[in-house]
This record gives sequence, C-alpha cells and structure tokens, in this order.
Amino acid sequence: MKIVVILPTYNERENIVLMIRALQEQFAAIPHDMHILVVDDNSPDGTADVVRAEAPAWPNLHMITGTKQGLGAAYIRGMKHAIEQLKADAVMEMDADFSHKPVDVPRLIAALDEGADFAIGSRYVPGGKIPDEWSFLRRMNSKWGNVFARYVAGMYMVRDCTAGFRAIRTSLLGKIDFDTLRVRGYAFQIALLHEAILNHAVVREVPVEFVDRTRGETKLGLSDIIEFMLNAWWIRFERSKTFLKFGVVGASGVAVNLVSFTVLMNMGLNKFIASPLAIEVSIITNFVLNNYWTFSQRDMNDRIHIRGLKFNMVSFVALAVSYSTFLLLSALDPSGIPQVHQAIGIVPATLINYFLNSYWTFKE
Ligand code: GDD
Ligand code: MN
Repeated sequence: MKIVVILPTYNERENIVLMIRALQEQFAAIPHDMHILVVDDNSPDGTADVVRAEAPAWPNLHMITGTKQGLGAAYIRGMKHAIEQLKADAVMEMDADFSHKPVDVPRLIAALDEGADFAIGSRYVPGGKIPDEWSFLRRMNSKWGNVFARYVAGMYMVRDCTAGFRAIRTSLLGKIDFDTLRVRGYAFQIALLHEAILNHAVVREVPVEFVDRTRGETKLGLSDIIEFMLNAWWIRFERSKTFLKFGVVGASGVAVNLVSFTVLMNMGLNKFIASPLAIEVSIITNFVLNNYWTFSQRDMNDRIHIRGLKFNMVSFVALAVSYSTFLLLSALDPSGIPQVHQAIGIVPATLINYFLNSYWTFKE
C-alpha cells in the first residue's frame, strides 16, 4: 500500500522537522510505501521554509501550501492531494506537535492491514490515555466533545470520535463527497467519521497515549468549539430526517387508509372486506412516497422491481398484522366503532413496515 501521512501545520516551525525525522525512523519498519504530506497554511513563523530545507533529504516528503481556513479545510485539501496527485491507498491524520506519538503509527497501520477501513488512535479505550497534567476544564472539554459526538450526533459505538490520529483507506474516502461536509475547523473530525459510518466503514480503535505538546501552542479556539457543537446537532438533524419523512408518509397513509375504508363502506362493502382493501390502498401510496421521497437518497444496488417485490412481501406481513389486530378487536368489542379498530391496527403494522422496509427493502 502507498500510505501518505498528512501533517497539517500552522506555526509548527519548532516541531515539524523533528516530526518528519521521527516518522522516517518509524517508516523503516513498516512494510508499505510510506510518504509524508505537510499541509501548511502559510504559517507566519516560516514552517514551510524549514520543510523546504529538509525536502532534499527525503524523496517521500511532499508539501502543499495555502491560506489558513481551519484544520478541517487543511485536511480536505491534503486528502484530495494525496488521492488525486499521490495516488495513495491510505492516508493518515496526525498532529505535527508530537501529541500523537510516531511510535504508534505502525499499530494504526497494522489495523488497516487487519481489515479496518478507518483506524482511530483512541484515548478512550482501555490502554488509551489523556495527559495526567490536563486541567479539569481541558478534560471536560474533551469528554463533552465526545459526549456530543456520541449521543447528539449518534456515533455511540465509537469511544474517541474527536481524535485527530487516524489511518483511513482511500477506497472509503472515495465514497465521501468532501464538498458536502460543511465544516472548516476541528468539527471536520466528527463530520468525516460520521460519513465513514454512513458508508459502512469498518472502524477500529487502537489505544494510544495522547501527550501534551512541549513546543508551540494549540490553535483550537472558541469558534472551533461552537462549530463543533452546531455540527453535532446538524448531524443529528440529518440522521432524523429519514425517520421524520417516514413518519410523514405514515401519517398520510393513515388518512388514505381511513378515507378509503369509509368510502368502501359507503359503497356498500362489508367492513371485513373494506378493512384489508383500505390497508392495501394505503400500503401502495406509502410505497410510492417512500421510494421516491423518504429513501430516495439511499444508494441501492437492486433494481426497482426487486424492491417492489420486497415491499409487497413486507406489505403482506403488515396487512396480516393489521387485519389480525382488527379481527381481534372486533371480536373483543363487537359493538365498537370499526374505524377505531381499524386505526389501532395501523400501529403495529406501521412499526413492522418501517423496520422491514428500512433494513431490508430500501437497504443500501
Ligand atoms: N494547516 C493547518 N491549518 N494546520 C492547522 C490548523 C489550520 O488552520 N489548525 C491547527 N493545525 C495543525 C497544528 O499545527 C497541529 O499540527 C495540528 O493541526 C493539531 O493542532 P493543535 O492546535 O495542536 O490541536 P489540539 O492539540 O488542540 O487538538 C488535538 O486534539 C483534538 C481532540 O481533542 C488534535 O488532535 C485535534 O485534531 C483533535 O480534534
Ligand atoms: Mn496539539
């Protein structure tokens, strides 16, 4: 594999050359074609100049420069360059300030070799560590960042969602449209992880010790924290959208069902025949709306007639559930209002419809 370690830098003059050399030392023991890509944002301290001076010593050292737009923007430029120009099979995200230890690089790469698409150098799995000297505030900041990412953005399964130490296959990145990640700063970390999860990436956390930088200072600012929190809520909203749409379609189905039922009864049909017919009419309108609206964003490989067939099978299950409920309620309460029995029957049928259709019919 060709692997490009991306080092974003902003005023890392004191660290970058030491970092490049420490990485090269690790590369000697890694059985892959290892490269370094420095993404410098025209650092006023002249970081790019010291990299240029170091470049002749290392044929695998690359650099791109640009204007400062934030950490996420720098990573996006770096990843695009690594994929399009350097033809990388995998990239790494890594801080240039020694907070991520170069000795941990081989273990992250080993996780890719073992089948992961997205390996995270994690501080919050057993064996991982945050610095002892971190203040209460700093700890809380990091903990809350992960609480937001896990419980607001919904990435429960990952312990360290904000980590900036990662190894990622470019076959996965190829499925992600960077231009839709509306993030500039550190929020990039959770936005990218979320896209990876949506694309069914194999995510693995490798425990690492995060050490405080000894040279230079952090660039994380208040605007990054605000963008981060807004982004977590945005991800939550995006995730809920499918469910909300399904709910709207379901509600329209209830109306279609009850109106059809009443119309059929008024036409003189027996209520026991009108009920399944009304259910079937609403199932058909639900399919059309779900296919062309609720799940229209899903990338489904099967052809529409297969999906239609599956939807029909799910419909029979839902029909049976709804009709059984109706029959049961009619038997228990023979003098009750038929519309009420019919309406109650819709509830279990809709739930079964949602799960089977979401995880089977309209599965990506
Ligand atoms: N090119 C570029 N542009 N590089 C940047 C920018 C930018 O706008 N902002 C930061 N960097 C570089 C820094 O020079 C450093 O190499 C790396 O990105 C990390 O920046 P730090 O400012 O040292 O980050 P941190 O230590 O506060 O945050 C770390 O922990 C966070 C989670 O707790 C990083 O690992 C983050 O990625 C991580 O989200
Ligand atoms: Mn740092």
